[in-house]
Amino acid sequence: MTCSSFGKCGSCVLWEIPYKKQLEMKKERLKEMFSDFDIPEIEVIHGSDEHFRARAEFRVWHEDDRSYYAMRKRKEEGRGVIPIEECKIVDKAIYEVMEPLLKEIEKNENLRFKLYEINFLSNSKGELIVTLIYHKKVDESIAEDIKKLKEKFPHIDFVIRRKGRKYVFDKNYLIEELDIDGKIYKYKIIENTFSQPNREINKKMISWAKRWADGLKGDLVELYCGNGNFTIPLSENFKKVIATEINPESIEAATFNAEINKRDNISFMAMSAAEFSELKNSGFFKGYDLKNVLIDPPRAGLDDKSRKFVNEFDNIIYISCNPETLHRDLKTLAKNRKIKAFAFFDQFPYTNHMECGVILEK
Ligand SMILES: C[S@@+](CC[C@H](N)C(=O)[O-])C[C@H]1O[C@@H](n2cnc3c(N)ncnc32)[C@H](O)[C@@H]1O
Repeated sequence: MTCSSFGKCGSCVLWEIPYKKQLEMKKERLKEMFSDFDIPEIEVIHGSDEHFRARAEFRVWHEDDRSYYAMRKRKEEGRGVIPIEECKIVDKAIYEVMEPLLKEIEKNENLRFKLYEINFLSNSKGELIVTLIYHKKVDESIAEDIKKLKEKFPHIDFVIRRKGRKYVFDKNYLIEELDIDGKIYKYKIIENTFSQPNREINKKMISWAKRWADGLKGDLVELYCGNGNFTIPLSENFKKVIATEINPESIEAATFNAEINKRDNISFMAMSAAEFSELKNSGFFKGYDLKNVLIDPPRAGLDDKSRKFVNEFDNIIYISCNPETLHRDLKTLAKNRKIKAFAFFDQFPYTNHMECGVILEK
């Protein structure tokens, strides 16, 4: 892939390295990082190296009567942001709308003045939620300007944010459809709550986890379930599922997603992983056959209470976006378990970030 922002934008730090080489390099890095564990061959799972991001955030740079998208500078250039002409990692729907949208905003001083950031969220049908974040007082009068914008971009719903306030035109969510191994799953994905950034890799991650869940006996507990991204397809592999997550809005979406996918064996709960782990001694899990757990924590990995709880299950499916905290957690979890599979999912081409999947069995 080539991009006119390569070498200027601080996001794609691996811009000089051909994509195939990046994959080899990251695999080697993981092999070395996890060399103190007995891991099988690392399975490398990748997708396209361009137009892969289904969500993206850009700062806005104003100069005279022009406005530009901006990204943080490369580390070597110091702090701050620089204007960019294009971003090739965002998916086609976002890429195609970026320039014409900003041109329209430029023409309207009310929409342009003190516009600080623009966020994009897309689905596979090419529908979008665009969030405009302001550093000024915004009131309902902005509705007229958004209405005009919507006439030009009917496939976009707009959310306006400024400190403590939010205006939604007309909705703040999309319905995403994912084809996992030939079956379509539907998801409500809500603006400003977590959704997997790389749609193609997400589908492959779900398929991978589902493959390893196949044949497991007992019920499933899931921590950090988000909008039910893994929960819904994996619930087909188990009799009963309890899935938890700290963000109530994500749990609301997950509950809705279970309904539209006709899954009736899942109980969702909005609580932190640590709080949920404490229920272990309360008799709450009576009636559940607690053998399997799926975890997909944020970069910080597992806290002490959750790690202790997870360590009581026979089978663990660990999806991680941070190999360092994964390594720390495996020091506990791999002590009495075999690492049956280790996958590297390249969710973030051109960056040093690495997403991994690990299957552990007692
Ligand atoms: C990497 S995301 C994974 C979400 C989901 N599994 C998916 O595939 O979309 C991590 C999730 O953990 C949630 N989270 C963050 N801290 C948490 C905590 N302490 N306890 C429970 N959930 C937490 C976030 O809200 C987020 O939805």
